Amino acid sequence: MSAETPAISNKRLVAVVDSSAAHRQKVCAALMSYYDLKPIGDAKEALASLSADPPALILLHATLEPMSAPEFIREALARDALKNTPIIYIAENEIDPQMDAVKEAGADGVVTKPYPRSVLTRSISAQLNTSIEKEWEALPDPQRGALQKSIAVFNTISDALATGETLAFESVKDNCQPLVEAIENNDFKAILDGVRNHDDYTYAHSMRVATLLSLLGHAAGFKNDDQLLLASGGLLHDVGKMMIPHNILNKPGKLTEEEFTVMKSHVPETVEYLKSAGDIPKGVFIIAEQHHEKIDGTGYPHNLQGTALNELARMAAVVDVFSALTDRRVYKPPMEAGKAMGIMTDEMTSHLDPHYVKLFRKVLMDADILS
Ligand SMILES: [Fe+2]
Ligand SMILES: [Fe+2]
Repeated sequence: MSAETPAISNKRLVAVVDSSAAHRQKVCAALMSYYDLKPIGDAKEALASLSADPPALILLHATLEPMSAPEFIREALARDALKNTPIIYIAENEIDPQMDAVKEAGADGVVTKPYPRSVLTRSISAQLNTSIEKEWEALPDPQRGALQKSIAVFNTISDALATGETLAFESVKDNCQPLVEAIENNDFKAILDGVRNHDDYTYAHSMRVATLLSLLGHAAGFKNDDQLLLASGGLLHDVGKMMIPHNILNKPGKLTEEEFTVMKSHVPETVEYLKSAGDIPKGVFIIAEQHHEKIDGTGYPHNLQGTALNELARMAAVVDVFSALTDRRVYKPPMEAGKAMGIMTDEMTSHLDPHYVKLFRKVLMDADILS
């Protein structure tokens, strides 16, 4: 049995409580690639049904019968099953007369019509992430610290990208201390579980890579600063994905050749970004620049072959492939750990370093992630 129990569905459940059939259908059509949806036209029926089977989030439209949106919010939040469920109100327009009342009743967010789909998906993601990050507060340290400090690094990077500020590596390293401590104490399962449902894919993937890479490093005899370097390298290895358009990064289905070219650009984007920081250690650069290289020379961006691949990159490639296969994505359920290792052992022998594949398998078995 995997320690990271796969979710029943790869998508989170979003309830669309909306008495306008036309708008309800429009919202469902816009979101169906990203979320499992439960459209309900009658507000009373919605309260009963959602209390029995709580969704991850409720989208509440201004057009509501037989009760008003503020009444619905008050009743939902008074119920145990729904009191922590985020509610986003979809307002008719800027001067929606219910706006103040829904906020007062406890709506977590407001999206105003007409809205582009990206505004709605960003708002849903932000609310889902806020509620997941709230759950971390109940965890013991160092897992809580590892999660909270790693998301702080991501938020800092995302703000820095917007303002053009650079990243201070010392602070990334400091923020990775609790993660390394958790690995050393063999106390990291809550970290992997804590990011599984996070809606920021790049963050969730990077944190899983950071955790599993530190775990592999621990087994390979890495200590102290070297472990911090692996954890930081894992956390930063894909930051260039923040520059990749959302529709390509989260595309449900195969990327076209053109889209794949854009996707591959996350490697030079990451390297450029890290260069701007100035004080990034060489090992972190190597992890970022070489984690998609393959030992037979068919990887990217430099088609490095054999011994040209650095040891750190070989470790990162193994962990990155495993994480990519077992990540929860909007278009696929997380692959079971045993199946992913089977693919890596049977079909990727010319891509991945067999020594590290073998060691990683042992690490996963010792950690009870693989049986
Ligand atoms: Fe990558
Ligand atoms: Fe990656």
